[in-house]
Amino acid sequence: MANVTVIGAQWGDEGKGKIVDWLAARADVVVRFQGGHNAGHTLVVGNTTYKLSLLPSGIVTGTLSLIGNGVVLDPWALRDEITRLEGQGVTITPANFGIADNCPLILPLHRDLDGLREAAAGSGKIGTTGRGIGPAYEDKVGRRAIRVCDLSHLDELEPQLDRLCAHHDALRAGFGEPPVDRAALVAELRAIAPFVLQYAQPVWKRLNEAKKAGAKILFEGAQGVLLDVDHGTYPFVTSSNTVSGTVASGSGMGPSSAGFVLGIVKAYTTRVGSGPFPTELEDETGELLGRKGHEFGTVTARKRRCGWFDAVLVRQTCALSGVTGIALTKIDVLDGFEKILICTAYRLHGELIDYLPASAQDQAAVEPVYEEIDGWEGSTVGARSWANLPAQAIKYIRRIEELIECPVASVSTSPERDDTILVRDPFAG
Ligand code: GDP
Ligand code: IMO
Ligand code: MG
Repeated sequence: MANVTVIGAQWGDEGKGKIVDWLAARADVVVRFQGGHNAGHTLVVGNTTYKLSLLPSGIVTGTLSLIGNGVVLDPWALRDEITRLEGQGVTITPANFGIADNCPLILPLHRDLDGLREAAAGSGKIGTTGRGIGPAYEDKVGRRAIRVCDLSHLDELEPQLDRLCAHHDALRAGFGEPPVDRAALVAELRAIAPFVLQYAQPVWKRLNEAKKAGAKILFEGAQGVLLDVDHGTYPFVTSSNTVSGTVASGSGMGPSSAGFVLGIVKAYTTRVGSGPFPTELEDETGELLGRKGHEFGTVTARKRRCGWFDAVLVRQTCALSGVTGIALTKIDVLDGFEKILICTAYRLHGELIDYLPASAQDQAAVEPVYEEIDGWEGSTVGARSWANLPAQAIKYIRRIEELIECPVASVSTSPERDDTILVRDPFAG
């Protein structure tokens, strides 16, 4: 099996985009299988920085890039992103980009509802990206979604629009908002339809044909396992399953297609939005991590919360996603720290525990138990082989492997594509 599945093993922003772009040169197809334009993936190639939200990160290398049915697609955001990327010289045509025809759409009414709910939630605010992701997934499961394939049947959508608007009009009335303007919605869909439909296709079929032809498929996850709607820090999560198992349902291939599961892991921890974060540092050290790591969101420009590496969480997410090996990123951000802390267990009401419990109350109450290791002198920035890493940095990496019970397959030492140490080639299985 020559396929690779890339997933985030923390709360997102681990550096998935950089690693997917780096691996894409060796893949035949790159596929997104969940999430939407809540994702923000930054790729740095030479002097150019690319910011992708919806487009698979293989698009920059020109690798065939597909959006699977598990994604929620905002057609207007897609058009803006394609225009922006084309402006940077990236070629995007139906020859190298496709969208699943059974992909549900994010509509303006979903964005409205995301904002209205967050504004009304008080202390229960999730801190969403405001992109309408949650409401769009709700409509998919509620069997009210308008999907890509519906764009070629806009004159026959009466029953679907009735279901959709009956639901949203009731909700909107509760928020004091006017009902959905159906005529305006259909007109907007009619205007964007040709743009989306040029890329629409049965992605499940294309992928299964590629598989038969022996293609190497790279599945690109968005967000991270701790934002998974089942396994994450619920309710402070996103509305999709972010674990590797979603590859199958979100693309239309069988579960055995996932191949090598590469968990992307930041050498420390960050999180955007609300919710528990056991190793969070609300002090000068946290500020320093954020400054050195440029920890500002790609999508919303929000400051990311920062803290020490939490081995309990990553051991759990590697297990939840059957991670074969990890890509450890941003080790260079820890250069110059005299002491580095690693969380190895939690204390909950006086008891030692080795996992993150399910309840939000317990998650908020756990206290990290740390071990301390010496930092290193010298720089890891731009290292492309083990020989270029200080011995103490290697010791830190080895300790992480031991604690998370998962081997390191690569180490990333700067935002630049090629500043990466390859330990084990995921495409070699
Ligand atoms: P993603 O959402 O997982 O794709 O990650 P983001 O792109 O949102 O955030 C990761 C940030 O770290 C981006 O700005 C990357 O350019 C940058 N980055 C990735 N790998 C490294 C690394 O090894 N070192 C440093 N210093 N920055 C990195
Ligand atoms: P990438 O792919 C980090 C977070 C939001 C919020 C929660 C729910 O770049 O790693 P949503 O808009 O999805 O309903 O928001 O999830 N979130 C992310 N955090 N990286 C992401 O994506 C995220 N996508 C969503 O901040 O806390
Ligand atoms: Mg990101």
